[in-house]
Amino acid sequence: HAATWNTLTGEAPIVVAHRGASGYLPEETLGSYELAIKLGADYIEPDVQMTKDGHLVAMHDTTLTRTTDVADLFEPRNGTYNVKDFTLAEIKTLTVKPTGALSRPDSTYPGFTPSMADPYKVPTLDEVLVFLNAQNAANGTSVGIYPEAKAPFDAEKEAKIIASLKSNGFDTAADKVILQSFAHQSVINLTSLLETNGMEAEVAQLGSVRLEDGIYGVNGSDGFRTLEQIASVATGVGVSYGGITESFIQAAHGLGLKVHAYTFRPLSEDEAFAMIQPMLDWGLDGFFTDYTDFGRTVVDAQ
Ligand code: G3P
Ligand code: CA
Repeated sequence: HAATWNTLTGEAPIVVAHRGASGYLPEETLGSYELAIKLGADYIEPDVQMTKDGHLVAMHDTTLTRTTDVADLFEPRNGTYNVKDFTLAEIKTLTVKPTGALSRPDSTYPGFTPSMADPYKVPTLDEVLVFLNAQNAANGTSVGIYPEAKAPFDAEKEAKIIASLKSNGFDTAADKVILQSFAHQSVINLTSLLETNGMEAEVAQLGSVRLEDGIYGVNGSDGFRTLEQIASVATGVGVSYGGITESFIQAAHGLGLKVHAYTFRPLSEDEAFAMIQPMLDWGLDGFFTDYTDFGRTVVDAQ
């Protein structure tokens, strides 16, 4: 391809497999991450929650209810099924259910058989990293990882994410790690932990695009921060795609910040081009999608 990109670096925008190939297979599972890699993801995305006994697991929600069969196997605790009220051993007995729009009830994808025995269990962050290392070694690739420190925000969780990355060898720029959080305090903590540990990774502030008094910024879970404030502690922003404009991207690039969009859920290739193409023309640096294949097709068509 002879494409010229308007991204911050001039490199191709990154396709981030949001919760794996979550449009097709049970989200945040090794099976879903394996399919995402096969479909051409540049990065796989796990959200990170912490169990009662302090283990990090790949799980989007604060509770286990939406994505697993927990309600069939356990009684509620404290009136609900919070991840933090269950041990890792208990969570390992659960099966993750298909929830994506194009997923099948029997968790299959045409032409794909997961390589592991139990593809739809809840993996620990360590297991995701070990799996990614093995995939990259087997395929000769360098697929990256884009972990999100999810609410409830917790300095212990942030420190454990960094420790897990370090112990699995994800500590240089070549390892392609991008950390993300909706909480500005968590972004600050992650950046400072990287520095303390001598590690290289990008860090993205998540939230919604907002213009206040003529100044662009991002509204995260702990309030509005200007792009300038964000640029002092992060390398990029991850923002809801509906708010992205060309002038926002230009303002971010002017401060050296990359812009990643979440979350594209096109249900066809045509829809993917219609949603994503205009923002790539404006210089979008990457995007999260549940449909890795459609995202890959749009980028590769340039
Ligand atoms: O991390 C970007 C995007 O994943 C944010 O939304 O709720 O899917 O984590 P969410
Ligand atoms: Ca996320």
